[in-house]
Amino acid sequence: MLKDIFKKIDQERELSKEDIVCLLALKDEQELARLYDRADTVRQKYVGDEVHLRGLIEFSNYCRKNCNYCGIRRGNRKLQRYRMSAEEILATVAVAERLGYKTVVLQSGEDMYYTVGKLVDIIRRIKQEADVAITLSIGERSREEYERLHEAGADRFLIRFETSNRELYSRLHPDSDYDERMQILVWLKEIGYQVGSGVMIGLPGQTLEDLAMDILKFKELDLDMVGVGPYICHEETPLAGNANGTVEMTFKVIALTRIVTRDAHIPATTALATLRPTDGREKALELGANVVMPNVTPAKYRALYELYPAKVCIGEEAEQCQACMHGRIYSLGRPISQGYGHSFKRAHLLPQYG
Ligand code: 5AD
Ligand code: SF4
Ligand code: FES
Repeated sequence: MLKDIFKKIDQERELSKEDIVCLLALKDEQELARLYDRADTVRQKYVGDEVHLRGLIEFSNYCRKNCNYCGIRRGNRKLQRYRMSAEEILATVAVAERLGYKTVVLQSGEDMYYTVGKLVDIIRRIKQEADVAITLSIGERSREEYERLHEAGADRFLIRFETSNRELYSRLHPDSDYDERMQILVWLKEIGYQVGSGVMIGLPGQTLEDLAMDILKFKELDLDMVGVGPYICHEETPLAGNANGTVEMTFKVIALTRIVTRDAHIPATTALATLRPTDGREKALELGANVVMPNVTPAKYRALYELYPAKVCIGEEAEQCQACMHGRIYSLGRPISQGYGHSFKRAHLLPQYG
């Protein structure tokens, strides 16, 4: 049984939903070690040893939405809100570039203050002034807006589908629609973005079957990047009082995502580091992950971008996170990528990415 599933992995055959559920249910340390070892082998074979760094800029914590798990939902009146100006964003990109990051991730709540015109202007200026790839993580917009942002120079887009279980999705999202979210992921690919998505692990009511379907969905969507992190309960949300996701289940999902998707970029996420600050990211990099996203947000704003409580790095400056991440990655004996870290799926098709 289990032996047959491991054999399938070794022969690079596709795993069924049942196989994945069986592996997600593993508890035995030795069996888990085997799973993680296979994931590390697949990572080595398909994406190599290099770890890619993406500088994360959380440029606004305003959000028009009310996702039930999220600390910056519009209904959280206790949170002080901030927006960075175009000049502040440009200055932060310059810091990221100086620290050696070849990608900046511009992330915010769904903040319509940043019209497409404003964002296009910011993207153009970044591309003029810095030699970096740009990832946007700004939530739901119209197809036309995504097109204009891509034309302006945005290379990648991150938008998680959060869970592939429709009922759970609608319970968590009072103002988002599951089909629209999935439609957006298809549009982004069609437009030409490198597309990242992902889910949270340990959402209230989420089952192993749900997680197995999430992993198969990553494959079906042919994602360029897949980010998964534990759900962490925020007390100023309707989900107050629920249990957090676990580090172990997050490790299993990362390992299986690597085995199933083979060449997707997979970050060791901040949420994981928050639940396991000592070595959560290092472990993730040794069981399938190949990306980390050090924070470059100006220190004065960091604590305010509180998706969940006790987030790591809120007391640090960009320089400290850079030194910290370098130390962690070198301690694993892994090289830090000097390139843009574009998708492995299409890099060879795009001459400018040669
Ligand atoms: N715990 C963990 N992750 C969260 N996110 C939002 N709120 C939480 C939380 N309480 C994640 C969502 C979102 C991403 C930006 O942050 O998956 O897509
Ligand atoms: Fe807004 Fe995103 Fe938080 Fe939902 S998860 S409330 S869209 S920032
Ligand atoms: Fe920010 Fe370690 S990455 S302190």
